[in-house]
Amino acid sequence: MKITVVGAGAVGASCAEYIAIKNFASEVVLLDIKEGYAEGKAMDLMQCASLNGFDTKITGSTNDYHKTANSDICVITSGIPRKPGMTREELIGINAGIVKTVSTNLVEHSPNTVLIVVSNPMDTMTYLAHKVTGLPKHKIIGMGGALDSARFKYRLAEALDAPISDVDGMVIGGHSDVGMVPLTSHATRNSIKVSEFISNERLEQVKQDTKVGGATLTKLLGTSAWYAPGAAVSGLVQAIACDQKKIFPCSVLLDGEYGLSDLCIGVPVVLGSNGIEKIVEIKLSDSEKAHLQTSADGVKKTNSLLDV
Ligand code: LAC
Repeated sequence: MKITVVGAGAVGASCAEYIAIKNFASEVVLLDIKEGYAEGKAMDLMQCASLNGFDTKITGSTNDYHKTANSDICVITSGIPRKPGMTREELIGINAGIVKTVSTNLVEHSPNTVLIVVSNPMDTMTYLAHKVTGLPKHKIIGMGGALDSARFKYRLAEALDAPISDVDGMVIGGHSDVGMVPLTSHATRNSIKVSEFISNERLEQVKQDTKVGGATLTKLLGTSAWYAPGAAVSGLVQAIACDQKKIFPCSVLLDGEYGLSDLCIGVPVVLGSNGIEKIVEIKLSDSEKAHLQTSADGVKKTNSLLDV
């Protein structure tokens, strides 16, 4: 199993680190445009191998896509991150050009790859990857929902005063401060609906805190987060590499599912060795349906700024 991660910045490097620590891949190639940077990160990570007990071989490459040839899975983290006060949508001008070049180069060298897009505005960048690569739709996945759901679970556990392993919840919709749809009506604590434990007001607060999860961190850190994004990507990569058939909310090209078409947006999917093996359609409440529609309208508006 060969995995390429483009962008050796904080998100790309933490993604490579989590993949290595989980020890399921034979090879990870880190690629960056900055001379020597990916090689340096790869060497630093390899010097963790004996300490953390993994055998994954991590190599770095300065923009040489030949080294990525025949990757089973490619992850795109490249582009600029947001600064405090910026929305993800504001990054489109610079990141669209980068994602276009990177995805074309990756698919040229790995025509059978599954592509995971992390760069923001993620739903629009995933849609762009579809337009420029022509890969089948089950092979392009946007990572946002897995991260947003992890942040939702963190906030739920905090509100419930419960261990995180006791809570379950999912966020669908666009990966944006306004577009996320935390499914509060489906969230549970050990199979009991969370509404049995906390008030609607508290649940509403959980929802709001989840939606601005990335922005809260950007304000604290001065740039966007990397540990949870890296861990979330590694979870998707593992589900595909190990054919786990796990359900994650991912941004995928819809063709009528949830009443939506011709956009990529977060919905629950089954991930296995073929990439997206199934789009899971669940029953939403009327307010969740309305929220998803508004979210889709927002994503389409951002997509309309693309030059494709
Ligand atoms: C975040 C970035 C990865 O939400 O979009 O932290």
